Amino acid sequence: MTKLGVNIDHIAVLREARKINDPDPVQALGILQRAGADQVTIHLREDRRHIHDEDARRIVELSPLPVNLECSIDEAIIDIVCALRPHRATLVPERREEVTTEGGLDIFKYEDRTLSAIEKLHAEEIEVSLFIDPDLETIARADALNVEWIELHTGAYANLFAMLHSNLSHSHHAIEDLKLPRHTLKTMLDESLAQLAGAADHAASLGLKVAAGHGLNYQNVTPIARMKAVEELNIGQSIVARSVFTGLEEAIREMRALLA
Ligand code: PXP
Repeated sequence: MTKLGVNIDHIAVLREARKINDPDPVQALGILQRAGADQVTIHLREDRRHIHDEDARRIVELSPLPVNLECSIDEAIIDIVCALRPHRATLVPERREEVTTEGGLDIFKYEDRTLSAIEKLHAEEIEVSLFIDPDLETIARADALNVEWIELHTGAYANLFAMLHSNLSHSHHAIEDLKLPRHTLKTMLDESLAQLAGAADHAASLGLKVAAGHGLNYQNVTPIARMKAVEELNIGQSIVARSVFTGLEEAIREMRALLA
């Protein structure tokens, strides 16, 4: 069964909308465990727009589930993560102006900084994952950097899925403006799935553990969950969005059932 990491950043987004104390993301921890989640995932962003240092500290201290802490390769952030000592750190690209993490980490351009972050994290016995695009060359480079995990960015797949299956597209993808015919979109969607599957298989054959995430929801998750080489999915926005109507436990259970 594919493991489920639940990203609880958006609980803190709701709190930050009012800059008050609730909802407290720490309160989600017991619910995640009851609902059968395998991991709690949080992103300590440089701008602290949702999860704060104190949230991260309490979550690492109190979580009954392993904590996967997403962060940039910024030195100050890596030092904080090293001090927190979560189970895993997932290195992601970050731009202040973005709405969410768009595209994988460029480990060619930032190789030295990435390597230095990996070494610091490993020295604290924190396993490291690299959030990267499903590209074979990037995977080979990730393997050379000696990380335990890669997480494949599923955002391009999720955008294509949304464009094909709904009239509304909230995607920020440039492709949105192209007004492509349905059959072209379908071909692109199939290609994007084949690319993800090929990337996952290649990474697994190199001995890397493979996670995937970004933009996954109740409609589009199944083809990714069926990929044998993908051990774990990290999903946030769609689960927290559904939880507004069903409660968090039910929203996680429903996602869990799709990964069975
Ligand atoms: N995985 C990584 C590395 C991410 O940066 C994010 C977004 O914070 C997710 C998974 C979850 O994405 P979403 O909220 O779209 O499910």
